[in-house]
Amino acid sequence: MSQVGFYGLGSMGICMALNLQKHLQETKQPSLHYSNRTLSKGETLKAAGGVEEPNYAALVKSCDIIFTMISNDKVLNNLVDVALLAGSIRGKIFVDTSTVHPDTAVQSSEKLTNAGASFIASPVFGANAMAASGKLIFALAGPRAVTDLVKPLILNVMGRSIIELGEDVSKSSMLKIAGNVIVIGLMEVISEVQVFAEKVGLGTTIMEKMIADMFGPVAESYSKRLTTGCYAPPHGTTPGFGISLAIKDAKHAISIANGHDMRLNVSEAALSHMLNARSYAGENLDSSSMYGTIRQESGLPFWSENSRQCI
Ligand SMILES: NC(=O)c1ccc[n+]([C@@H]2O[C@H](COP(=O)([O-])OP(=O)(O)OC[C@H]3O[C@@H](n4cnc5c(N)ncnc54)[C@H](OP(=O)(O)O)[C@@H]3O)[C@@H](O)[C@H]2O)c1
Repeated sequence: MSQVGFYGLGSMGICMALNLQKHLQETKQPSLHYSNRTLSKGETLKAAGGVEEPNYAALVKSCDIIFTMISNDKVLNNLVDVALLAGSIRGKIFVDTSTVHPDTAVQSSEKLTNAGASFIASPVFGANAMAASGKLIFALAGPRAVTDLVKPLILNVMGRSIIELGEDVSKSSMLKIAGNVIVIGLMEVISEVQVFAEKVGLGTTIMEKMIADMFGPVAESYSKRLTTGCYAPPHGTTPGFGISLAIKDAKHAISIANGHDMRLNVSEAALSHMLNARSYAGENLDSSSMYGTIRQESGLPFWSENSRQCI
């Protein structure tokens, strides 16, 4: 039986790893090995039977299939370099589920494949509530022989569906980046309309009901990030989808579009609002914090009555 490992226990990763460990236990497979830069974030996983490894190199050494869920391209590049120095990785399968630029996925694949390993790029759609309930959507690309081995660890374990994109790992990254054009654009529009509702006296509650009834639970959940104040969470708590991650995604999308002689005007507006939010209120913001900037631009305070109240 293959030994499965998981690296990256942030907002998404810890939920995914817990579901994976539960599945391995239920199917009587060896317990999940895990690691994270901040090891203390794995306490719940350890309590669920996961086996802690001190760092990524040790995780790679002890596992046959290694999932990663980390913040950005730079971290993934670094993990690939660590893996290449961790002894022979021949036959190992690396599955990255983070959102990175398609070029980063291709380069990771080339380096690991040259060392005799395989690489699958499988970024996910869905917020951390979906990760917690095992309902993510995986966009999956990589060599057929190994994707077939990995799919049973994903479907009805961490995800509710898999969108298969063949063997070219740039394709799944590209789909994820394209999907985030919608996610970030929707967040921008809903932020704008909720400020509109407040300014014209309709109120955010009635607007949220209309959004829910007309556009469904996903749009409603985006509206709730604003109305509950989650866009600017209290210090000492972490955002569901950190602003810097969304800025990274928007920049990837805009640069890819520009490379194809195209502008993404909504993404550009959202990016500008997110950058302003971060420079005003710091790093502890959700991707929806463009709302704060749009509020300010409309003469309202950055903070709402339900958000935190200070920088
Ligand atoms: N949150 C969402 O709603 C969502 C949805 C879909 C996709 N995504 C994508 O999924 C990925 C993870 O998102 P997340 O929300 O889970 O992010 P997160 O909560 O910020 O977690 C990031 C993870 O990366 C690790 N990390 C950061 N810098 C590192 C470094 N220099 N060296 C080693 N590890 C490092 C963190 O370690 P520490 O714990 O030590 O900080 C943590 O495990 C991102 O690519 C994001 O764009 C997020």
